[in-house]
Amino acid sequence: MKRNSLLKSILIFTAVLAITACEQEKNKVINFPKTDLAMENMIPMPLKVNASNSAFGLDQNTVIHTSPNMEEFHEVGEYLSEKIKWQTQLDIAVNDIQNTSSNRVIFIKQLDENTPSNKEAYELTILQDSIILSSTTAEGAFRGVQTLRQLIPETSNDTLSDTEMWLIPSGEIADHPNFEYRGAMLDVARHFFSVKDVKKYIDLLAYYKINSLHLHLTDDQGWRIEIKSWPKLTEVGGSTEVGGGPGGFYTQEDYKELVAYAASQYITIIPEVDMPGHTNAASLAYPFLNGNGKKVEPYTGIDVGFSTFDTRKDTVYAFIDDVVREISEMTPGPYFHAGGDESLVTKKDDFNYFISRVDKIVKKYDKRMIGWDEIVHADIDTTAIAQFWSNEENAKIAVEKGMKVILSPGKKAYLDMKYDTVSKYGLHWAGYIPVDTAYIWSPEYYIKGVNKENILGVEAPLWSETITNMEELEYLAFPRVIGHAEIGWSTEENRDWENYKVRLGNQTPFLDRMNVKYYPSELIEWKKQTLPIKPRLKD
Ligand code: ACM
Repeated sequence: MKRNSLLKSILIFTAVLAITACEQEKNKVINFPKTDLAMENMIPMPLKVNASNSAFGLDQNTVIHTSPNMEEFHEVGEYLSEKIKWQTQLDIAVNDIQNTSSNRVIFIKQLDENTPSNKEAYELTILQDSIILSSTTAEGAFRGVQTLRQLIPETSNDTLSDTEMWLIPSGEIADHPNFEYRGAMLDVARHFFSVKDVKKYIDLLAYYKINSLHLHLTDDQGWRIEIKSWPKLTEVGGSTEVGGGPGGFYTQEDYKELVAYAASQYITIIPEVDMPGHTNAASLAYPFLNGNGKKVEPYTGIDVGFSTFDTRKDTVYAFIDDVVREISEMTPGPYFHAGGDESLVTKKDDFNYFISRVDKIVKKYDKRMIGWDEIVHADIDTTAIAQFWSNEENAKIAVEKGMKVILSPGKKAYLDMKYDTVSKYGLHWAGYIPVDTAYIWSPEYYIKGVNKENILGVEAPLWSETITNMEELEYLAFPRVIGHAEIGWSTEENRDWENYKVRLGNQTPFLDRMNVKYYPSELIEWKKQTLPIKPRLKD
């Protein structure tokens, strides 16, 4: 053998040895400690959980693969990788064809589209060397990714192998939601919340599998969405808010950005233009709309029920047509919320006539109308949806008419009710709602005669009369909105306060990492912080 080729052989041999040693290190049998999948901090509780008492070690050798040629699945993989990095600092490659040697794989797999299944259903199989997340849709995979995120422990284990490992308990999960519609509502009219704030709320809601964000865009105190054909709505109507602050509004570009951001997390934006009452800001901008016979002045108080559109003028409907058209064009979701609550100075006949005409306009732009429960008295199509908030009779009428109902009972689901008499923010007209009261109820049994098949879903509204910024929003919404997410997703059999409150206490690391200023209810034993994160401002 010539000297050169001898040298070459030695080099190759050494390289092979090094690679083999590395492979052996990667493949070394690891004695995972026993874990129990059912004991983790999953919220909402999945439908079926089977623990197999071992673990998948998430580490730097892990890779993510997604079904080939499925862009949406690839995006879900990228999202998972980003969230893993956010929590663990690990850089996990997605569909990296160079890296075929990794022995730890998270595979996000599309099931045959013809498999009959709920579009948000997913299955997770967690083994020692692989995690398989499967779903017929990317939406289902996205929901499954939230479960997976919740299973990654806050701290890593560095005694099992040479690499730091986050032990994900092994087992199988098969899951789908109990209700199709699981919403939160944010009132950006009484006080305005920026695009950045709403995006943060979206991030938090997605983690708990909420799929609809209803934006209450207009009210007496402010009009918050740019309508190009009626510019004074925002120029004039956008400049007021409760307490006299500067108000604000979303340009159409802002709104589109929010819609797209929500869609990237499989959340549908539902725009609400509240009418014929709650319309002082619109009438301030265009006084011809006003139907209460009084001069319109800017309004920054918190009373309700004094404003109304003029329901008998065709020009009012021409205006509404433009508003519904412009908003619908920017809204890919199937719904348009037309309000309809507390129109106390609109005559009954005028109100019903109005709602019926608005329903037709909404349909003209290919949307389904949602309205607060008062709308059920109008002659409307059964495709319209009644959002129950206070009057049970209205919910029953909706069912008799064949309409679907969204349940937002003020006494349970209103996030703006105070927790107790010493709460810093909130109102209490529907009562005080501590964290357990908000959690302990079942949509299926809340109103006699309004059964599972009549219920589209649940929604937790957050009215903003008493809150002016994100910290105050978070105080009222968290932790109660987390419980509502479970009520919407998990079956009655899988919900139990004693079990839930432990899982809720385990949310602290996530909430702190997200810098959420939640209300630290004494009913909950909040898990101690384990990471050096900025101190949370307790009240
Ligand atoms: C409402 O709380 N006025 C729907």
